[in-house]
Amino acid sequence: MNYMTSTESPSKISTDCLIIGIYKDNNLSIAAKDIDKTCDGLITKLIKNGDVSPMLGEHQMLHFVNNINAKRLLILGLGDRSKFSINEFKKVNESAAIAIRNNKLNNFANYLTLEIKDKPNTYISARQSIEVILNNLYQFNEMKSKATDYSCSPKKIIIAISKKENANKTKLACEQADAISAGMNIARDLGNFPANICTPTFLAKKSQEIAKSYRNLSVKVHDEAAIKKLGMRSFLSVTEGSKEPAKLIEMHYKGAGSKQPIVLVGKGVTFDTGGISLKPSPAMDEMKYDMCGAATVIGTIAAVAKLQLPVNLTIVVPACENRPSSSATLPGDVIKSMSGQTIEILNTDAEGRLILCDALTYSEKFKPKYIIDVATLTGACVVALGHHRTAVMSNCDELSKLIINAGESSVDRAWALPMGDEYEAQLKSNFADFANIGGGGGGSITAACFLGKFTKNMKWAHLDIAGTAWISGDKKGSTGRPVPMLTEFIINQSNEKSS
Ligand code: BES
Ligand code: MN
Ligand code: ZN
Repeated sequence: MNYMTSTESPSKISTDCLIIGIYKDNNLSIAAKDIDKTCDGLITKLIKNGDVSPMLGEHQMLHFVNNINAKRLLILGLGDRSKFSINEFKKVNESAAIAIRNNKLNNFANYLTLEIKDKPNTYISARQSIEVILNNLYQFNEMKSKATDYSCSPKKIIIAISKKENANKTKLACEQADAISAGMNIARDLGNFPANICTPTFLAKKSQEIAKSYRNLSVKVHDEAAIKKLGMRSFLSVTEGSKEPAKLIEMHYKGAGSKQPIVLVGKGVTFDTGGISLKPSPAMDEMKYDMCGAATVIGTIAAVAKLQLPVNLTIVVPACENRPSSSATLPGDVIKSMSGQTIEILNTDAEGRLILCDALTYSEKFKPKYIIDVATLTGACVVALGHHRTAVMSNCDELSKLIINAGESSVDRAWALPMGDEYEAQLKSNFADFANIGGGGGGSITAACFLGKFTKNMKWAHLDIAGTAWISGDKKGSTGRPVPMLTEFIINQSNEKSS
């Protein structure tokens, strides 16, 4: 993809499609005013006749407009000017993506970026418009015998800027948006593949392919024998009932010499049946998404490697299936984790924490500056925060704030839930050091407290993405979240002089 910035007036820009907007109450955007002038009051006339709507997200494509150099003119409704901020901007760019796809555009010039007043405006608006548009052009056709004829991948995008001084910052934003979108696409593909294709072995192969395509990126895959040797009995207890071999995948991006790495750990349960504590049938297919933590961290390291950031980043992915069989772990079984702590498995469906705890213990050897695990861990998280925000739980306020701020600026938001002794006490077991489930409420928090028992020596945060990693219903599919938030976090880390 080729990205360009331009201070050219909208009527003069040469492009297949010029994108402008109109607000309610005959209120024209900067570019719409310009076009209205050069085109003899065209925009005002269209509004007066009701041929274009200023309602948020509505759009109208005009062809063969006189007096402009663009081949087409896309007019988008921006709603109330006073209410137009980043969320509305994203919504409008979604509509633009629909028009871009329906017209199979090869290139376009986006002048909506001039309308965002948040600071630093050009940076944020360029980032968001490219991310939103590329994200909405995404399609998953891998498993269809005939791909739908909707595919559209523009080759050139022009972003309008108000001042030449903003060009460099905006170009950087375009590059970052491009890398983040590529990372999201990797994460979305991995999530959308069904469990009969996306096995732990498949995840390992994909990681190897990705490692080959970027400089400074390497991969190491441990098989079951190696996992056993490491003493990861908790991880292995989950895969006991499955014929598919488990894998422990690690990837290392080295962009900053001997600096302490950031470590991301992603839950890679390629299908979660619940095991002997079997899940109910309705919507069980969605448990193919139970490896979205893994997909997120793989997508993030790909984005970071694409940007070649001056930072060290390691990802660790425990990958396996959770299935019942005659060899599956039974409720009440007690196992010893890699840390030496023993766990009573009261519910085999609380398996995510069982694979993550050993991966977290293993990751201590990298001496992480920060360690963050990412997991579709609890249904309770969806109850608490719905599908809008990722939950953050941490033993380090400074880290939790850095993550939440990265979520705000990348518009891929998160919200903190508390932790504490009173929640941790719910994990009490009569037969082992503790149980894998907490009686009583606060299921997302007790899950985090369980993981907290394995991260005492590290600055750690846990992200529960059960509500944000995929969408159900007729738009069912993986979202690629929270690749933007985590990449933003790593970008910020790479800008820190002292780290
Ligand atoms: N993968 C699920 C969590 C999940 C469920 C995510 C539904 C999104 C939608 C996880 O392994 C799980 O089964 N968690 C249990 C924990 C319980 C047994 C303590 C849950 O949330 O029901
Ligand atoms: Mn489960
Ligand atoms: Zn699960």
